Amino acid sequence: MRHLLSAIILSLALPALLFAAGQPERVVNVYSHRHYDADRDVYDRFTEETGIVVNVVQAGADELIQRLLAEGSSSEADLLVTVDAGRLHRAREAGVLQPVETPTLLANVPEHLRDPDGSWYGITKRARVVTYDKTRTSPELIESYADLTRPELEDRVVVRSSSNIYNISLMAAIIAELGPERARAWAEGMTRSFARDPEGNDRDQMKAVVAGIADFALVNTYYIGLLLTSSDPAEVAVGEKIGVIFPRLGDGGTHVNVSGAGLTAHAPNREDAIALLEYMTSAGAQAFLAGANYEYPVHPDVEPAPIVAAWGELEEADTPLEVLGELGDEATRIFDTVGWR
Ligand code: FE2
Repeated sequence: MRHLLSAIILSLALPALLFAAGQPERVVNVYSHRHYDADRDVYDRFTEETGIVVNVVQAGADELIQRLLAEGSSSEADLLVTVDAGRLHRAREAGVLQPVETPTLLANVPEHLRDPDGSWYGITKRARVVTYDKTRTSPELIESYADLTRPELEDRVVVRSSSNIYNISLMAAIIAELGPERARAWAEGMTRSFARDPEGNDRDQMKAVVAGIADFALVNTYYIGLLLTSSDPAEVAVGEKIGVIFPRLGDGGTHVNVSGAGLTAHAPNREDAIALLEYMTSAGAQAFLAGANYEYPVHPDVEPAPIVAAWGELEEADTPLEVLGELGDEATRIFDTVGWR
């Protein structure tokens, strides 16, 4: 009986194998700094729809850039996926990306959320916002990032270290919008507002607020979603107390940044990689990614997930994100001058 079954399975499998042998497998190879299940799900959906298999190599962004440089024209990588426009800019400057422009990509991704040459495109968007404990603090004091430096806020604000790319990119945006002098004054004011020396990640800042160590914390939005959906009840309890302020930057809205992707300089599967990039920014994939990671979609027609929409309306600054990369070094110099560690 078992032999008969094996024979049937073999006879069914054989034509498929022969077919596959005649048709080389189509693949796209992704080097990704992102480590979310949702990304894998999007790649799998793409494979279901197109038959193109997506292979992923995961590592830190700087490591992936180094690897692309070392591999040069023999690299198998087609797409580089990473978080923060500052990092995407580093990849572009290192020469490991190539420009690409298609009508679909231009329609899917707003102008300020992509590289002007098409070297990278935003995939998902996050805002850097001010959070507070709804059960004991009122949000009225803060309407702008500048308000974090008000004298009343001395020793009441927490934020992570200045070496973190999220803070470097925020500082770069402040330089772009307000100029270097006011940016330096802001950074100096922030150090007076610090309730403690910068430590920990964004989630730790919100935990410090709920623990009463500080009253306001500067964090990326999706970390609130990660607290609210954590498997640790203590983190859920923190998330439930968190209120969100969308601060203005100069005359504009709140500072946003992206996770993004760019076609690698030597992409061996160029056309299929462009198809994947278009798929990731399509309305269907955008709705799915937004629902899974508590980030905002970049696609103009796609609404954020309900859990994200509940934090309030995001009015975003339209600072071109490539500027964040260009001003990153100046941002770091300002942090060093004012002693924001
Ligand atoms: Fe993050």
